[in-house]
Amino acid sequence: MGRGPGGGPRRGPGGGRHAPMGGSKLKDSKKTIKRMLSYLSEYKLRIVLVLLCMIISTVTALCCSYLLNPVINKLALYVTGKEQEMSAMERFADNVLTKITGPINAAIKSEMLTYIIVVVGVFAVIYLVGIISNYLQSRLMLVITQGSIEKLRNDLFSKLQKLPVRYFDSHPTGEVMSRFTNDVDNVEMMINNSLTSLISGLITLTGTFVFMITTNWVLTLITIVFIPIFALGGGAIAKISSKYYSSQQAALGAVNGYTEETVTGQKVVKVFNHEQTAVEEFSLLNQDMREKQFKAQFWGSIMGPIMGNTSHISYGVTIGIGGILMVAGKLSVGALSVFANYSKQFSMPINMISQQMSTIFSALAGAERVFEVMDQVPETPDVVNASTLPINGEVVLKNVTFGYIPEKTVLKNISLYAHQGQKIAFVGSTGAGKTTITNLLNRFYDISEGEILIDGINVKNYSRDFLRQNIAMVLQDTHLFTGTVKDNIRYGRLDATDEEIVAAAKTASAHSFIMRLENGYDTVLESDGANLSQGQRQLLNIARAALSNAPILVLDEATSSVDTRTERHIEHGMDRLMKNRTTFVIAHRLSTVRNANAIMVLENGEIIERGDHDSLLEQKGRYYELYTGVKELD
Ligand SMILES: Nc1ncnc2c1ncn2[C@@H]1O[C@H](COP(=O)(O)OP(=O)(O)OP(=O)(O)O)[C@@H](O)[C@H]1O
Ligand SMILES: [Mg+2]
Repeated sequence: MGRGPGGGPRRGPGGGRHAPMGGSKLKDSKKTIKRMLSYLSEYKLRIVLVLLCMIISTVTALCCSYLLNPVINKLALYVTGKEQEMSAMERFADNVLTKITGPINAAIKSEMLTYIIVVVGVFAVIYLVGIISNYLQSRLMLVITQGSIEKLRNDLFSKLQKLPVRYFDSHPTGEVMSRFTNDVDNVEMMINNSLTSLISGLITLTGTFVFMITTNWVLTLITIVFIPIFALGGGAIAKISSKYYSSQQAALGAVNGYTEETVTGQKVVKVFNHEQTAVEEFSLLNQDMREKQFKAQFWGSIMGPIMGNTSHISYGVTIGIGGILMVAGKLSVGALSVFANYSKQFSMPINMISQQMSTIFSALAGAERVFEVMDQVPETPDVVNASTLPINGEVVLKNVTFGYIPEKTVLKNISLYAHQGQKIAFVGSTGAGKTTITNLLNRFYDISEGEILIDGINVKNYSRDFLRQNIAMVLQDTHLFTGTVKDNIRYGRLDATDEEIVAAAKTASAHSFIMRLENGYDTVLESDGANLSQGQRQLLNIARAALSNAPILVLDEATSSVDTRTERHIEHGMDRLMKNRTTFVIAHRLSTVRNANAIMVLENGEIIERGDHDSLLEQKGRYYELYTGVKELD
């Protein structure tokens, strides 16, 4: 089984990254458990009630078997005419029952019948109490679980909103998503099932034990002898199965990851005829999962029988010795049958707890992954006295040097000056650093060398919210949300009226195609506007930015997917819009940037030429090459 998920020689696309945490070794379970429990802390009162309900339902179950003892003895007395040996507690229970029924003559049948009916009634009442408390317990537990999981999810999501762009740039979407789904689910399962079983199991164990001792201590000793066998055996199996369980989860992750990638990339798979390869790679991962699942399920499934058989042995020994004690007159018939019952009951919670182990392990792993996200360093806090002066739109970059990672500088010593209302264009080859400059303007990334000033104030001295309110952007990657066309445009300014939305759409030349959609502005877009063309998606993104009143506008390849005629339309529309705004335009199509006040030619993170269209052409440098196509782009 050398080819682990993502580890084999035939790695699928992105193979390695789906394998979750090497062997899912837990880092600090104590801390994780503590933190998980902190989510339950606001339900203290309810938890106390749950405990109370658990105790009540356990005690009622035990009481019923305990009451059985005097009842059987009474019946035995009736049948055999011989008084049974009874302990003080049993006598007490007997007295209670007799109080209810009144004194009865063992020899009289009808009185015996009344006795039995009363006993059944008493049992029914006790059981009813047990059922009610059981019901309350699971109701309360649901409230506690769902409430705390809701909070966990909210915390995780709001933490995500606070994370810097850097985090999303460096973590695959599926990876982040799985923390919301698989990992949170695991935690939920544990709180709802495992925690309840664990606590009620412990209560049952303690209760049974107490009742056992009061019934007969000699027989209790037998059970005590078997406890370490249960504990050690159960623990060992749980350990083995949990190991396989986590590798099963890892394999499952790999299969899910591969499926997800192949589904989302289905078109590429088909274009390059990779269907057969995909099937083969999938079946390798699938086979690996089957092997691991087999092991996990095998060890998981032998736990029950092994525990069961051990308890059968304990049961047999108890009955044997109990029988001897009874013959010796040291144990009543009732006590023996009740004890046999206890002995069975005693193994049940042990089984239950040991079976919960794997759930608990995977929940801990899940919780750890959730908390790992929560512990990520958020965006640095905004400065305290952030400037809120209205922004006019004068933008200055002074000797800006920047790299996404320290080892690799992407922008080198960039300086530029944009007057309010000017149109500045960036051109240059792919990867030259054009988008990177705009990422710095609105503080997606903070710089450490050089300065970026807006209206003379360093961007670090604005709050990010304020800054982004003042910089409207059409990003290079378009994105539309699930919702209507209107909602998607309104994303640019939430208080915009319907008229303003239509006006913005007209500016962006989007109005005519929107009107041709089935429901016009109320057409619902799904999964990133899959029902639109690439160019139409861009137009909606432009409309969204056009709606904003921001004094600074950034258009990153905004019109790369629309035809030149539409582009010219947009340009006309935007001219009006851009009048009082400082605009940064990035475009590969150089016709777009011709009328810019200044054009910056970027190469390898440096501005190698600058000037307006005509002067750049005169220079006969890089821009001239790009524009006239004298030299092909490298
Ligand atoms: N999130 C990121 N993390 C690390 N490196 C990045 C990241 N984004 C971009 N880069 C690198 O920075 C360099 C500049 O990228 P940038 O996106 O600014 O190029 P661009 O000029 O906008 O190119 P294009 O015309 O293709 O859009 C590239 O070499 C790229 O590999
Ligand atoms: Mg770019």
